Amino acid sequence: MSDQSQLQAQAAEISIDHKTLYPPSPEVVARARIKDRDTLSKFAADHPEQFWAERAEELEWYGKWEKVLDDSNKPFFKWFVGGKFNIVHNALDRHMKTWRKNKVAYIWQGEDFSERQISYADLNREVCRFANVLKSLGVKKGDRVTIYMGRVIELPIAMLACAKIGAVHSVVYGGFSVQALAGRILDSQSKVLVTCDGAYVNGKVVELKQIADDAIKEAPIVEKVVVYKRTGRKIGWVEGRDHWWHDLMKDASPVCETEVMDAEDPLFILYTSGSTGKPKALLHTHGGYAVYTYTTMRYVFDIQDEDRYWCAADPGWITGHSYIVYAPLMNGATSIIYEGGPAHPAPDRWWSIVEQYGVTILYCAPTGIRGLMRFGEEWPKKHDLSSLRLLGSVGEPINPEAWRWYYVHVGGSRCPIMDTWWQTETGGFMITPLPVTPLKPGSATQPFFGIRAEVVDDNGNPTPPGEEGYLTILAPWPGMARTIYGDPDRYVQTYWSRYPGRYFTGDSARVDQDGYFWIIGRVDDVLKVSGYRLGTAEVESALVSHPAVAEAAAIGLPHEVRGNAIYTYVILRAGYEGTPELAEELRQHVGKVMGPIARPEKVEFVAKLPKTRSGKIMRRVLKARAQGLPEGDLTTLEE
Ligand code: WTA
Repeated sequence: MSDQSQLQAQAAEISIDHKTLYPPSPEVVARARIKDRDTLSKFAADHPEQFWAERAEELEWYGKWEKVLDDSNKPFFKWFVGGKFNIVHNALDRHMKTWRKNKVAYIWQGEDFSERQISYADLNREVCRFANVLKSLGVKKGDRVTIYMGRVIELPIAMLACAKIGAVHSVVYGGFSVQALAGRILDSQSKVLVTCDGAYVNGKVVELKQIADDAIKEAPIVEKVVVYKRTGRKIGWVEGRDHWWHDLMKDASPVCETEVMDAEDPLFILYTSGSTGKPKALLHTHGGYAVYTYTTMRYVFDIQDEDRYWCAADPGWITGHSYIVYAPLMNGATSIIYEGGPAHPAPDRWWSIVEQYGVTILYCAPTGIRGLMRFGEEWPKKHDLSSLRLLGSVGEPINPEAWRWYYVHVGGSRCPIMDTWWQTETGGFMITPLPVTPLKPGSATQPFFGIRAEVVDDNGNPTPPGEEGYLTILAPWPGMARTIYGDPDRYVQTYWSRYPGRYFTGDSARVDQDGYFWIIGRVDDVLKVSGYRLGTAEVESALVSHPAVAEAAAIGLPHEVRGNAIYTYVILRAGYEGTPELAEELRQHVGKVMGPIARPEKVEFVAKLPKTRSGKIMRRVLKARAQGLPEGDLTTLEE
């Protein structure tokens, strides 16, 4: 039997239902770092501080902590208090003393098929040079630096350079646009912005520098702009403010001391969407975040020196921060970074990359899988994907059809899928399989070591098996965000007040009889569109910024590939007519202010919106109506 027909036969045998368990193969078990999940889980549950202290010992500290966990000022927990540390020392400096300095850190492929590889030693040199550049621009410990770039190696270089000198990076995803960027620059008070002249995505050029210029008009606090040349196209230039990356790097020294930080010093802030129109910046620290991301990567992806690991997310989101930049480098891994779109120029682009570089671990979002699944299995079949040994999924629930396709046609029915549930707020994986965990398609399985998760009802009582409730976390963990930058009250309010003493995730979930967790989705006004996190309120405020719009409501409706699609309802100001042209103009307007990912699928003009007596838009009513479903309890509806 040929490999192909064997695969087909296996595919036919697999019928997915929620009770079927997929046990790991003997080969997977044989090489797994953690073979007995239960024993270590029990140990971590009984002795969480000892468990995390032992993990922290695997990293290098300038000075040891005095206390593993300080919970004297809840919910502002502190980890490894008094420890002297820098994550960059662990991501780069310590590899300079071993053979790993000559190991490849990143293999990069541009959408135009250009290629680069960079060793740990070369990466370290570039980071040192850019750290010196930042210093020469006046950046000091604690200062925020906004990074708005495409997927180039210089993005991690800029992040690491900030962390090396103790500056706090704030990466804004390159798919965001003027208003989103301006708001984040202002909120973080960044005087330095690092960007690119442009980026190649899906065969087009994203004019990053143009967007940055427009954003700075709204956020004139920016004094210096560093521009990395990627496209070479003509761009606007402000003398004195703008500097080419390559000009500044030319004279920068490749030697730079890594700043000795306190474990609890801020490493980065990252903006994410919540239920209000104002995005919030979650703050992560050097010590706890490092220990947590390092450990989760080691145990879940079982990363080994001979691996070639590819996380296909964008470095500008938390997945990229944790699992493209920091955790892989701390683990001394070789990672792939691909610049462009998954189906460019053909729907086998991802599979050709897996084959070309012999990728062993592939980590991506269900939306990516669903998008490529549409083109059919003949595309992955064109390529030898036998190097793969583990797969990963993140960002939204993976539906059984996509799971099955990924498992069979990408993983050759031999690679377990690590369906990792976590959030910007959690820093790293929270509910996740390990390679040895028997899998159920669509379930993220069990809490990671030391994580106490519970699904509860409105009153905070655990729900019986199989019943839906709210996902909460009962005990602190080292990778948790420490606060919302500049707004500690909002941090307490959003995450710690609904169930006092517990972290509220904003997700609904259920736990089955075997203790497996099934994530259902958000219970707040947060949407996942193509795995990206957006707030309905942000889309609404983008619409209202158009002169024709008096009021707007945005909802998410199920979408086959993107998970959610944004539908909007608009009340026009007097004197405007709801023509198809205006609807299209409004769609484009949202794309322009927020970014193309937020562009609504549909703009519908209405005379009224369903509201509560206190004036809150009842999005669930709009949602039910749009889907032709029962509208539920309408007692709070005003009319
Ligand atoms: C959702 C992404 C189901 C969830 C790392 C969460 C998931 C939100 C999964 C956080 C998963 C993430 N299964 N849902 N494996 N992973 N989510 O902050 O709703 O961009 O609350 O972090 O994504 O999104 P964020």
